[in-house]
Amino acid sequence: MKIIKAKDYNDMSKKAAGIFFSQITLKQDSVIGLATGSTPIGTYKKLIEMYNANDLDFSEVKTVNLDEYVGLSGESDQSYRYFMNSNLFNHINIDKANTHVPNGLASDKELESENYEKLIKSLGGIDMQLLGIGTNGHIGFNEPNDCFDKYTHEVNLTESTIKANTRFFASEADVPKTAISMGIKTIMGAKKIVLIANGSAKADIIYDSCFGPITPNVPASALQLHPDVTVIVDEEAYATIAAKLK
Ligand code: F6R
Repeated sequence: MKIIKAKDYNDMSKKAAGIFFSQITLKQDSVIGLATGSTPIGTYKKLIEMYNANDLDFSEVKTVNLDEYVGLSGESDQSYRYFMNSNLFNHINIDKANTHVPNGLASDKELESENYEKLIKSLGGIDMQLLGIGTNGHIGFNEPNDCFDKYTHEVNLTESTIKANTRFFASEADVPKTAISMGIKTIMGAKKIVLIANGSAKADIIYDSCFGPITPNVPASALQLHPDVTVIVDEEAYATIAAKLK
C-alpha cells in the first residue's frame, strides 16, 4: 500500500487525476471503476480539464461504477447514474454505452448483481478502481461486518450511512435503505486501486484501514491484502497517521 500525502483537497484531486491520466494514456481502452460521493468530484473536474486541454481521450475507455441506490432511476437527480452523467460523462468524449452503473430499478436484484459481475468479466476486469471511503470504513456500500467474500450484491445501508447521505436528499426518510454494490471481492479483483480521502472526519478510519487489523469490522482494511493500492489523503485525513508515527 502506497500512501501519498496531498496538501489539500485540490492537490489530492490533482494527484488522483494524474494517476488516471497515466492509466488511460498507457492503455486507451482501460476499464475504469468509478465512485460517487463528495470526494471524487474534484478528481472528475481535473479529468474534464485534461480532456478540454486535448490531453486525454476517453473514446475507448469503459467504466463500471461501484454502486447504485435501489429504487432510483437514472433520471432521478439523486441516483448515481445521474451523478456520473452530470459530474463527468456529459463533459468528456466517452461513449455512454461504455459507461455502466448497476440498475437500481431491476426487479430481480440477484440477477442484476450476477449480470453486473458477468459484465465486468466480459470487459476483461477492472484495470483501475477509484474509491472513496465512509467514516465507518465502507468502500462501495460494503458496510462493516459484511464478509470480504462477496461479489456484487444488494446491501442494507447502515444507519450512519443513511444519515451521512441525507445531505443529498430532501429528508432522511427519502434516502433509499438498500443499494446494489460491488462486493469487496469484486473491488479486490481490480488490477490497481486508488483510494482518496480528505478532511479530519476521515483521519481515524484512514489509519485503521491502512494500519489496523484486517477485519470485516473495517471493510477498507481488506485493501491491505491487495498488491497495488495507492491511498491519497490530504493533510487533515493524514493527521492520525502523522500523530502515530511521531
Ligand atoms: C460511492 C461510494 C461510497 C463513498 C463513501 C464516501 O460510490 O461507494 O463508498 O465513496 O460513502 O463518500 P463521500 O466521498 O461523500 O465522503
